[in-house]
Amino acid sequence: MKYGYFDDQKREYVITQPDTPLPWINYLGCQAYFGIISNTAGGYSFYRDARLRRITRYRYNNAPFDLGGRYVYLRDDASGEFWSPSWQPTRHKLEEYSCRQGMGYTTIGSKYKGIEARTRYFVPLDENLEIWQLTVTNLREQAAELSVFSVIEFCLWDAQDDSTNFQRNFSIGQVEIEDGVIYHKTEYRERRDHFAYFACSEKLAGYESQREAFLGAYRGWENPVAVERGHETNSVAHGWAPVGSHHVKISLKPGESRQVVFVLGYQENPREEKFDPPDSQIINKKSAKAVIAKYRVAANADAAFKKLTDYWNELLGLCQVDTPDVHTNRMVNIWNAYQCMATFNMSRSASFYESGIGRGLGFRDSNQDLLGFVHMVPERARERILDLAATQLPSGGAYHQYQPLTKRGNNDVGSGFNDDPHWLIIGVSAYIKETGDWGILDEAVPYDNAAGSETPLYEHLQRSFRYTLERLGPHGLPLIGRADWNDCLNLNCFSDTPGQSFQTTTNKEGKVAESVFIAGLFLVAGRELADIAKHRGLGKEACSYLCEVTKMEKTIREHGWDGEWFIRAYDDFSRKVGSKENAEGKIFIETQGFCTLAGVGLEDGLAARALESTRKMLATKHGIVLQQPAYSKYYLEYGEISSYPPGYKENAGIFCHNNPWVMIGETRVGNGDQAHDYYTRINPSAREEISEVHRCEPYVYAQMIAGRDAATHGEAKNSWLTGTAAWNYYAITQWILGIRTSFDGLLIAPVIPKSWKGFKVSRKFRGVTYQIEVQRAGDGNQVALEVNGAAVQGNLVPLPAAGTKTVSVKATLR
Ligand code: BGC
Ligand code: NOJ
Repeated sequence: MKYGYFDDQKREYVITQPDTPLPWINYLGCQAYFGIISNTAGGYSFYRDARLRRITRYRYNNAPFDLGGRYVYLRDDASGEFWSPSWQPTRHKLEEYSCRQGMGYTTIGSKYKGIEARTRYFVPLDENLEIWQLTVTNLREQAAELSVFSVIEFCLWDAQDDSTNFQRNFSIGQVEIEDGVIYHKTEYRERRDHFAYFACSEKLAGYESQREAFLGAYRGWENPVAVERGHETNSVAHGWAPVGSHHVKISLKPGESRQVVFVLGYQENPREEKFDPPDSQIINKKSAKAVIAKYRVAANADAAFKKLTDYWNELLGLCQVDTPDVHTNRMVNIWNAYQCMATFNMSRSASFYESGIGRGLGFRDSNQDLLGFVHMVPERARERILDLAATQLPSGGAYHQYQPLTKRGNNDVGSGFNDDPHWLIIGVSAYIKETGDWGILDEAVPYDNAAGSETPLYEHLQRSFRYTLERLGPHGLPLIGRADWNDCLNLNCFSDTPGQSFQTTTNKEGKVAESVFIAGLFLVAGRELADIAKHRGLGKEACSYLCEVTKMEKTIREHGWDGEWFIRAYDDFSRKVGSKENAEGKIFIETQGFCTLAGVGLEDGLAARALESTRKMLATKHGIVLQQPAYSKYYLEYGEISSYPPGYKENAGIFCHNNPWVMIGETRVGNGDQAHDYYTRINPSAREEISEVHRCEPYVYAQMIAGRDAATHGEAKNSWLTGTAAWNYYAITQWILGIRTSFDGLLIAPVIPKSWKGFKVSRKFRGVTYQIEVQRAGDGNQVALEVNGAAVQGNLVPLPAAGTKTVSVKATLR
């Protein structure tokens, strides 16, 4: 069953019924001002940091799930009837409804009793504000006297404090109202130099700024007293709960349309210019007034919207594919790339499943996110890399997370996740491959942000590599520390106290438990680093890295191979995890994926056998589960993984992030059919037909799909913010379609299904547009290349002469 359809021409998903199984959301803003918006206008906004600069309030885990947001009410002033054109919060049965989720905007349109309303929500580029453009049309045969009410609820900035510290917060709320603009200035009198505002293009019939005045006592968003009554009281909030609400009256002749524009924004003032007059307590509104004046005008809002769509057309235009599979095309050309922007911006901080107060930006997550993002805005990738590296510790380890506003490592979570440092090598190498910007390696970057500790970025990578070598366990495999990629395999935790954090509790010394996964990761990172060293003319150093890599590969084969698949780890008793010796958790996906993508056992069939075991034991029609059999009880020595009921999350759920590792592994053994088949199983677009089972948005990946042990096998959860976005993008574009960036140019190495006759790609790479056409002339993956009409040996398209704008590439597969 579907709840809408893809409009690929417009790059939109059109939701045609408001009561989707879960809220189907979108992100507004892609630079500094962000909003999350659901298909019924729920959600919230923030500036840079979802916890520390929350602009509007949101109540998570609500009933209904999604309540509170950017609401507009329409009221028929003749009858007194009112409704929500976005369905929520009044939930009147609308005659027509559609929500178009687009690239950086959401348009919700509906019809009720002959009144059509359409609201387009977006954040203009380079501005710290959002615009709601509401168009109301009278389709009746008589004139209509209508009232429009807007409402948002201001958050008192720190979202965590806002939802807990009521004894203080109920007394500090402050607003100013000038020219119908509601300014939210809680704490501005003391240490804040930022404020928010909510403005409207029209002359107001009234406004409210105190929540209770708008809603009325003992009422909710579904029947605000102000709307019911049809007028507002011009309340001024003192404490309690500041809101912004405008009341506009409009008379529409039959067939007539009117547009009302609302502008919700964030503004900072220089400290010395906070007040106007300077010795007053009144906000200096000069800069805010200028932007408000601009965007109140519909034509300016339209122009800003056009700029935003041009921007997205350009970004997505950087890589466009034309394959025989519509789901591949749609995800690569539109939605997967778009999701990669969201994961780059948000890491795992703010979605409908991440509260925005729990986590900052993850070190491993953000580095991996670069794989799907770096081709879009490489300058921002560069900045991110330098920020991340600055939270690395002198030991080479890293803070697991950092707050985007302060860019400081997060002490609550700390470090000791022993896979973390390697992802920096992988992120940096992906960046250099894309851009050819070797200079980044010479940037001076501190450790733990401490002034004076700077070294070239290159040394950060050296320390990352050494970090593992200095932390090897009894089998010569990397010690796992708090956890590796799988945050829930907590082999040093041994927690028996309710409520303890699995991530930060360690009751063991950590000298025994080892990770075969980190060993696989080490091979990949080590080879990247060796290549980088070679390019810097450090041949000897490169050799020493390769030597360590070879040693580690041998160790994996000796101690990480179980006969038919790769072992996952050794626990604190030095017992195997993910082995036939285990009663539960005999086989894990992570090592089958990462060791095969790292090429372990390509020559002698180990890789093929591991992939065969994956197919037999882990693959389901909804994707590949994380391990089997699921843990049926809590294991003190394994930690959080066994805390989940079987089939969910890391306990044998389909953790979509690591499915692409297996896809890449399949391409390495040359099996394009299997790789693309796995790709399709978790591709949200290909799952659209079973939306009632999948339940999350069909246009973006979810972190998890319930595994075969779950009662709800096939049900997705935690959509949007997941490494799945970058890894799938990377797997399909660089390994299955095989248009792969390298230090020396673009490689063409497709491993596609046998039934495909070919495909085309237009890819902008280092300023040059490559028009690539791949044709099948046989069943294999051997590539014969022609570049600009001339045959080229091998499968590397050499970098063209400076000034070249386009290169045409023909690849024949045999
Ligand atoms: C989740 C993991 C996540 C971790 C982060 C766990 O509860 O299952 O997926 O990585 O929390 O803190
Ligand atoms: C989600 C986390 O964000 C990520 O860092 C981790 O690798 C996976 N969960 C697996 O536990």
